Amino acid sequence: MHDVRLFASIKHPAHPHQRGHMYISIRQCLINELDILQEIGYETFAETYSQINSPEIVHSYLQKAFNTKKLLEELGNAYCNFYFMYLGNELVGYLKINDAPAQTDINDPESMQIERIYVRKKHKAKGLGKILVDYTLQRARKKKYVWLGVWEKNVNAIAFYKKMGFIESGRHSFQMGDELQSDLLMKKIVNIKQRTAT
Ligand SMILES: CC(C)(COP(=O)(O)OP(=O)(O)OC[C@H]1O[C@@H](n2cnc3c(N)ncnc32)[C@H](O)[C@@H]1OP(=O)(O)O)[C@@H](O)C(=O)NCCC(=O)NCCS
Repeated sequence: MHDVRLFASIKHPAHPHQRGHMYISIRQCLINELDILQEIGYETFAETYSQINSPEIVHSYLQKAFNTKKLLEELGNAYCNFYFMYLGNELVGYLKINDAPAQTDINDPESMQIERIYVRKKHKAKGLGKILVDYTLQRARKKKYVWLGVWEKNVNAIAFYKKMGFIESGRHSFQMGDELQSDLLMKKIVNIKQRTAT
């Protein structure tokens, strides 16, 4: 199941009881937790994109990407993995990582895709996104690289990924509602031995 539990200090704690070290856990989302996944998926997607997209586009994407049938298929797909992150007992973010057969592009067996990485608004900038990236890099340690697509206008996420060592490697188009948008493809090499062997 690849669950992890860390005892880590978080930056900018919202409450005095979060000062110092806190338990952070990451665990796979179970099929019977679909409603929780849907809720955090809707909430964090709307928080991120409502300011920079029309409500129609956001609504149409949410209907398409987070409907029950689609999420159930994805939760049942062994190549597609959702993880929940908890700070203490509070669900603070989630991650979706894909192996080649479930990737939205590239589909290279030597790669892992971060398809979604979201931290709830009030918990951003505490170091939690970095923990989710580090977790992915650990999961991908036998691959050559981790890649992701990020909307060219999501400047905060692009800055975050650059900080995490991802480098722009191309572009692809992405259908968001009725609009064809452009995503940057970003990549981080994770396994030097594999890279130099080829
Ligand atoms: C992007 C996201 C996952 C980052 O998570 P986070 O918990 O806020 O980021 P962290 O606190 O772990 O930041 C890690 C590092 O990146 C840096 N960073 C984060 N956001 C940054 C930004 N907008 N500009 C510059 N640096 C940034 C931090 O300063 C930190 O650097 P440090 O380790 O030197 O202190 C989170 O902000 C989020 O959920 N955003 C909305 C959803 C989204 O856009 N997801 C990506 C979709 S492709």
